[in-house]
Amino acid sequence: MLGRAATAGAADAGAAGDAGGARRAQQLPLITKAIPSTGERLPAVGLGTDKFGNSERAAIQDEIARMQQLGGSVIDTSADYGESEGVVGDVLAALGIRGRMFVATKLVASGGRFFGADIGGRPSFERSLARLRTRRVDLLQVHNLDGVDTLMPLMQQLKRAGQIRYIGITTSEVDQHADMVGYMRRYPLDFVQVDYSIANRAAAMDVLPLARERRIAVLINVPFGYGSTIEQAESRRLPAWAADIDVTSWGQFLLKYVISHPAVTCAIPGSTQTRHLVDNQGAARGRLPDAAMRRRMEQFWDNA
Ligand SMILES: NC(=O)c1ccc[n+]([C@@H]2O[C@H](COP(=O)([O-])OP(=O)(O)OC[C@H]3O[C@@H](n4cnc5c(N)ncnc54)[C@H](OP(=O)(O)O)[C@@H]3O)[C@@H](O)[C@H]2O)c1
Repeated sequence: MLGRAATAGAADAGAAGDAGGARRAQQLPLITKAIPSTGERLPAVGLGTDKFGNSERAAIQDEIARMQQLGGSVIDTSADYGESEGVVGDVLAALGIRGRMFVATKLVASGGRFFGADIGGRPSFERSLARLRTRRVDLLQVHNLDGVDTLMPLMQQLKRAGQIRYIGITTSEVDQHADMVGYMRRYPLDFVQVDYSIANRAAAMDVLPLARERRIAVLINVPFGYGSTIEQAESRRLPAWAADIDVTSWGQFLLKYVISHPAVTCAIPGSTQTRHLVDNQGAARGRLPDAAMRRRMEQFWDNA
């Protein structure tokens, strides 16, 4: 499946007149990582959708179609991202590609504390299925650790019933890492989702080593610091040695740093613009930094 998608992507992107760097990137091999609990492989760069709304539906359809053509498959949404689930569901149905994508969503416990959550538990999950226009989601995650103990029996039941394939929990706050580590020790999780970037390396001290030890897959959220890290990066010139890891932009530099951590399965940068998505998908191609290159990247970043 990935091979076919990658080939189609190269042809399509070229015809659409993408920048030369992006076109060249698409000729390079796709980087995939295994989910430890099953061995299933995922492309190492996906898509975050918390800014997706109805008004941008046409642009989002173009963006998701392009991601699939370029070999990407992981889409992260949430019951709490406003119109996001509905837009993702409608777009996947319109494109007829639901079966080729790995769809992750989130919920909180009924009466959850998470800001803005109107429903939780099973009613939230049923609404997610309806909005996503699907009979099962690939990954169901407890959003911001809100109700992990309450939700775990429901999630295990949904997994046994085949309504979800994988169980996960998420945070995007360093202050929650200690709690996340506790849940990782207590429950048989398939996935965690955590904040990590070259400018925010705390997860490398706690969540990521434990994920390796316990064979839990890792999605990385906010790899661009909600946009602020990439803005900061763009005030500097990309070092010439970035070419040694097939990096042609700051977005790719930041993403290759993240996905080259051995515990990381897939990064989910948020983008509402197709040109950003094409740039980011370029990071899922070619050479990955080794340990020495990762140190060089950190030193370069720290010496700004
Ligand atoms: N607790 C949780 O579970 C949690 C919390 C936060 C986020 N998340 C998930 O993680 C995803 C990613 O986080 P995020 O979207 O908040 O932050 P992010 O990925 O760190 O940054 C997104 C920002 O970067 C910009 N961008 C993307 N690609 C770019 C590129 N190649 N060049 C320049 N700018 C680029 C986007 O612009 P455009 O929109 O203009 O393209 C957007 O402003 C979310 O969408 C969500 O799915 C989960």
